[in-house]
Amino acid sequence: MKQDYPQTRVLVTGGCGFVMSNVIRNLLAANLDATVVSLDINATDRLTQEFFDPFSDRITHIQGDVRQPSSFNLIPNDQPITHVVHAAMIAHQPQWEREHPDKVLEVNIMGTVNALEWTRTQPNIMRFLYVSSGDVYGEPNAETSQKPHLETGTLDQPELYAISKYASEQIVRRYGDIFNLDTATVRFSGVFGPMERPTPGRSIMAMPYHMVRAVIENRPLRVTAGTLQAGADFISSEDIGSILPRLLVSPTLSHDIYNVAYGQFTAVPDVFESFKSIVPEFDHEVVIPELADVIRDPSRRLARWNAYDIGRLSSEFDWQPRPIAEQLASYFQWVMQDPELHCPRLPQENLLNV
Ligand SMILES: NC(=O)c1ccc[n+]([C@@H]2O[C@H](COP(=O)([O-])OP(=O)(O)OC[C@H]3O[C@@H](n4cnc5c(N)ncnc54)[C@H](O)[C@@H]3O)[C@@H](O)[C@H]2O)c1
Repeated sequence: MKQDYPQTRVLVTGGCGFVMSNVIRNLLAANLDATVVSLDINATDRLTQEFFDPFSDRITHIQGDVRQPSSFNLIPNDQPITHVVHAAMIAHQPQWEREHPDKVLEVNIMGTVNALEWTRTQPNIMRFLYVSSGDVYGEPNAETSQKPHLETGTLDQPELYAISKYASEQIVRRYGDIFNLDTATVRFSGVFGPMERPTPGRSIMAMPYHMVRAVIENRPLRVTAGTLQAGADFISSEDIGSILPRLLVSPTLSHDIYNVAYGQFTAVPDVFESFKSIVPEFDHEVVIPELADVIRDPSRRLARWNAYDIGRLSSEFDWQPRPIAEQLASYFQWVMQDPELHCPRLPQENLLNV
């Protein structure tokens, strides 16, 4: 692998998506000579054009499918790619998993293999960063710690999404070993924030999305009673955007896996209280599951629903996410610039579009 950095040029798969659009913006803001190639099955639209507008001269959008090796041939070869962030995927959705298990696995596993196969033909790539999920921590078992989840902690992947994310982590690590590629994996906790909306690969929105949507519709958020006993490690896409580019271009990394999270468990009532301090009109009501916007299981407060330990990231990069109230406030401000564009009403139909 080359040691002298050519001009930074990053390939981001799933670059039009929720979290990666924040990563791209932060990357381009922090690295003034960097350029990005985004490869996404989704076409750019008014929202992505607006979001990327300040940096549009440094982003090339390619509409392509990571299942097709030929999609990677569409990447312009005028300037070599130096870093890859692979994030394109189909997220967990119970109906999608039952109806299209093959598609979930093709996109999430073969998409990773295709990204790696292309990467190993490229002589200038300094790092391949795989975007995984805390869903690999799955369900708690007798050995699951009550403490914030460590990268080395227990793993248990129940759903095909989590299985495919973990399989991809292992495939990435092995390609790194065999082909002498610098690879790393990041595992996000529960993300909310700017640019969240349904995409071809994701239809279940985070709780703050529903909170903001309830305010837009001038009604209470509808939750089940159990949800009020639940919680999670919530983090904004903006805060992920503030650290991922640094991790990506750092010349060396001390670890091959990093949790990217808030680092604390926030109980649902505490999220509501923080939000209410910013948006006093926010309210919630308890309803039966059939009528709820948000259903969270209070018995799942460990493993993927617990806090994630962010010691690796914070000690290596001296990074801390902003307090949750600040994260919620800046998300709300962003939505309110154009509520129906930034936090659209969710469609009734829930079809997989990949
Ligand atoms: N949102 C979360 O809470 C969360 C939590 C943990 C991990 N992650 C990970 O973060 C990454 C980004 O997820 P997100 O939440 O921003 O979801 P997202 O759906 O907004 O982004 C994923 C993007 O991948 C694209 N895509 C789907 N199938 C594709 C294909 N076959 N070829 C090319 N592009 C394709 C979609 O169009 C979408 O733009 C994913 O790898 C996901 O596993 C997200």
